[in-house]
Parts: sequence; structure tokens; C-alpha cells
Amino acid sequence: MPLDNKNISARVCIIGLGYVGLPLACLAARKGFEVSGLDINNRTVEHVNAGKSPIADKHLEKELADLKGRIHATTNPAECLSKNQIIVVCVPTPVDEKFNPDLEPVKKACETIALHLQKGQLVIVESTVYPGTTEEVVKPILESKGLVEGKDFDLAFCPERVNPGDEKWNLEKIPRVLGGFSDKGTARAHSFYAQLLGAPIRVMRSAREAEAVKILENVFRDINIAMVNELARSFDHLGIDTVDVIEGAKTKPFGFMPFYPGPGVGGHCIPVDPYYLIEKGMLNGFNHQFLVLARKINSEMPLYVIERVQEALNEFEKGFKNSRIGVLGVTYKGNVDDVRESPALKVIAELQKKGALLSIFDPWTTAQSHVSSLEEALKEKDCVVLLTDHKEFIEMPLEKLAQAKVKSVVDARNVWDKEKVKALGILYLGVGRK
Ligand SMILES: NC(=O)c1ccc[n+]([C@@H]2O[C@H](COP(=O)([O-])OP(=O)(O)OC[C@H]3O[C@@H](n4cnc5c(N)ncnc54)[C@H](O)[C@@H]3O)[C@@H](O)[C@H]2O)c1
Repeated sequence: MPLDNKNISARVCIIGLGYVGLPLACLAARKGFEVSGLDINNRTVEHVNAGKSPIADKHLEKELADLKGRIHATTNPAECLSKNQIIVVCVPTPVDEKFNPDLEPVKKACETIALHLQKGQLVIVESTVYPGTTEEVVKPILESKGLVEGKDFDLAFCPERVNPGDEKWNLEKIPRVLGGFSDKGTARAHSFYAQLLGAPIRVMRSAREAEAVKILENVFRDINIAMVNELARSFDHLGIDTVDVIEGAKTKPFGFMPFYPGPGVGGHCIPVDPYYLIEKGMLNGFNHQFLVLARKINSEMPLYVIERVQEALNEFEKGFKNSRIGVLGVTYKGNVDDVRESPALKVIAELQKKGALLSIFDPWTTAQSHVSSLEEALKEKDCVVLLTDHKEFIEMPLEKLAQAKVKSVVDARNVWDKEKVKALGILYLGVGRK
């Protein structure tokens, strides 16, 4: 596909200033684009304009402080949409309570764009959607006021791959795929990302193919994590340490990629995106079995953690009711403040239902914490359950467990040295190891 870098504008509007939109806004501003950001959340807009990050992320906090005044955030579409040549959609794509894809935020953002759409603009969708959404949902809404894609404006899809909390793979370094409709539109989108990234950009044959790439990536993770979670449960019956086995398998230099068991998967992507393909497949006469099973296995893992806690309490002839349990971590993964779809929330709700007395501590989301220090969370607990692999928990001296008179631990992330814990006279259970 011919690509040209000529038809590029210096003005960008990012719609949705969250985990995806904010790093993109910062990168574009750093690269010299004039950047505005549109969001429906007043707090987010106020934070960005004040040079503060609405998300607890050291890199973003520094970037937004450095770039203060260079990203104009607003809740008013009229202030930013019509004057920008490039509009990038980064709004959420959740599922509803029945796990059906909820495209309302994408539709609403597109309706807003349509009201202000100008000839010559380029619209790019970065939100994760099922294959066909940009063509079947986004394009008709954008064309609803009379302008025609490919003639009056251009449209492309370029999925975001950002990995919050990852210091190595930041936005600029992550390769991208993108797909458009016309050669011109695709080339314009390519030019935009080529100016932002120091990484390869692969042009797919269509937006639909690029959408499918993103879904494949997330389904791949969900299925592989489900596979090791199932193995972990099986190995618990066999008395085999799953982590040791994975380390062994990793010595094979080809054909193996490690995934690790845990309390389930969380965040806005992995536990959500497979449902987009499951639904799209069903509407088109295909019944996904593998994807559904992976979702089921991963969704059941919080209950498996509860079983492990029960096993630990049994050793001391205790039930859940009134047992003292320290919970370490609420967020869905380590070193981020995001609790969306976090399996820890399910574990906590279940423990509360069973009448356990909880001391919850998460240094990354203090609003979710019951206690304000690690020491308080550990103090004289019948069981300490580690649910998030924050560096504060991985790096803590394990002697603290003994000093706090902890009786047992359920290390649902398998991050502690089990032999060391046992040597302290504390019962150790992991997920797939003991
Ligand atoms: N979080 C991730 O790690 C990640 C990674 C890759 C892809 N994605 C995908 O990127 C998309 C965005 O995810 P996110 O994590 O940044 O979500 P987020 O919730 O952090 O941010 C979305 C922002 O969009 C705003 N918003 C919602 N509706 C809006 C509207 N109509 N107009 C303007 N603003 C609106 C919200 O207020 C919020 O600030 C999703 O499709 C997600 O699947 C997320």
C-alpha cells in the first residue's frame, strides 16, 4: 500500500483521556502536535489542565507536569473537534452485566464527532472493538450528517497496545498495526503514527483485520492464562509446583511461552475483549467454545483462592467466620492503581460474605484500603492473602510475616519464596504450589 507523509496536520484531538488516551495525548504533545483532549469527566479535565494526572502513574504524573499548558482538555466538543485535523477515539468499551459488548461510549463519541465533523479530517479509532465495528458502527454514525468517508473525511482503526505500569514497553516503543478503508486514509493514519512512534507500524488490509489483530492478542492471553490456571489446580492435586514446572519448560528455546497462574484476570481488556468476539461470532452463526471456556476458568479462579484460604484455616481448625485475614492488594495487577474487573474484588466480597474479619491494604489505591500500613494488614492474622504482585509486597522482608505472628499465607501470585516462609514456621499455600 503506498504511504505518504505529506498530508499530515499538526493538530490532534484525543477523545477519552484515560489509560489509553492520556499517554497518547502526552506523546503527541511531546512530538510537537497541538493537542486537545475531550472527556466527559470534569475531574479528568481539571487535572490535565492543571498539569496533574488523574491516574496514579509516575510516568504520566511527570509527563503531565512537564507538559502543563500544552494539552488543552475540555468537556466541550465545540472547543476542540472542528479545529483539529486528526481525531482519535480512546473511549471505554466495557461489557454490561450480562457480558454483552457495550458500544454506547463509542457510539456517543462518534455522534459527537459527527456533529462537528469537517471536510479533510481524519478520524482514528483506538478503542478495542470486535471486527467490523469501525465499518458497521462508527462509519455510518460519522456519515450521518452528510459527509462521506474516503471523499470528505478519512477513517482508520489503530488498536492501542499500552501496558500500564510497564517501564520497558512504553507507548513510543510498542509496534502498531493499523487498517483503514481508502489508501489515502490509511496513509494519513500511518503518517500520524510514524511521527509519534519509534517502532514499526504494520498496515493491515482493512480496519476489520486490524480489529481482529487486537482481539487475537487479548484472547491469546486469556486462553493461555486459563490453561495455566487449570494446570495449577490439577498440579495442586498431584503435589507438583506449577511455577517450578513453568521455569523448567522455559528452558526450551522454541515453541514455549510462559504464562503464570494466579487469582484470575482483571483490567479493562483481557476479561472483557473476548466477549466482543464471542458475541460477534454468535451473531454471525459461529459458536466460540474455547473462548467461553477460558472466560469460565479464569472467572472461577477467585473462588479457588477462597478454597485455598479455607484449606489454610482448616489447618488451625478455624472457619471463615471471625477469622482474621489480611488482604494484600486490590488492583488487577502489580504497580498500577486500576481496580477494574480485578479478581481481588471478588475474593474480598466472598471473604466478607463468609464473615471473615478483613484488613485490606493496597498502597496503590488507598481508597480501597482498610488499613494504612503493611504492618497493620499483617498483624496477628490467621491468614494473609496476597492478591496483587505490587513491588511493595514482593520486596518486603519475609521476616515481617513472623514478626507480625501470621499463621498462614495464601500467595495467590506465587511471588514469595515458599521455603523461606515455611522456614519461619508459617503455612504456605500458593496457586499451583505449596
Ligand atoms: N487500559 C488498557 O490497558 C488498555 C490497553 C489497550 C487498549 N485499551 C482499550 O482502550 C479503550 C480505552 O480504555 P481505557 O483503559 O483508556 O479507558 P478509561 O476508562 O481509562 O478512559 C476512557 C476515558 O474516556 C472518557 N469517556 C467516556 N465516554 C466518553 C465520551 N463519549 N466522550 C468523551 N470521553 C469519554 C472517560 O471519562 C474516560 O476518561 C478501551 O476500548 C480499551 O479496551 C485499554
